[in-house]
Amino acid sequence: MLAMLHALVAGASKRDVCWLYGARNGSEHPFASETRQLLGALPRHHSQICYSAPDPEDRLHIDFDVRGHLDMRVIEQLNLPRDGDFYICGPTGFMSDLSAGLASFGVAKDRIRTEIFGTGPLMTPGIAASPRQTPHVPAGPPGSGPMVSFARSGLNVRWGSSFKSLLELAEACDVPVRWSCRTGVCHNCETGLVAGNVSYQPEPIDAAADGNLLICCSRPEGNVVIDL
Ligand code: FES
Repeated sequence: MLAMLHALVAGASKRDVCWLYGARNGSEHPFASETRQLLGALPRHHSQICYSAPDPEDRLHIDFDVRGHLDMRVIEQLNLPRDGDFYICGPTGFMSDLSAGLASFGVAKDRIRTEIFGTGPLMTPGIAASPRQTPHVPAGPPGSGPMVSFARSGLNVRWGSSFKSLLELAEACDVPVRWSCRTGVCHNCETGLVAGNVSYQPEPIDAAADGNLLICCSRPEGNVVIDL
């Protein structure tokens, strides 16, 4: 998206350009000043920045425009032209919600383009692939924490404090997993939580669906059963 903005500025575009951006707060808003500068060079630009959890130092109408998530409610209020070209980049849930919302809004499907936030080549094969090795307990001394059960793999292991996330534990056990960002953004690691509860560090940008968890940034709060 940033590259597109640079290209528009380099070509002295006179097009209407509307830049919509959602972040948790200013500390998680990369390239904010660069973007602002580029938009300032486009004579027909509009911008709407949404912060879902602004920090006290984030200034309304200066650093951001809307308190809340970037969603269809925001887009409908902007009354964007239905014959515009829409480029969406973000987590899969965010993109599918907006794509469906824009289609209901009257935007033709061939005018909606999406790009997943994350780096494709890092994606691992996922739970459908065959494990390279039979899942096993991790090397080293056993953990003393809650029991983590990987249901599909038929493996029960104790959580250990040396792991930063359930994803790290699964990898140490050769349980097949999929992931991309490893920071709670892309949802590629979203998996069914059959039983138990987890806590998040960091908090994901968008919560996992009911009954699911993001294994890349979660730890067990008591015994858990995971659909892996
Ligand atoms: S790997 Fe991206 S949210 Fe977990």
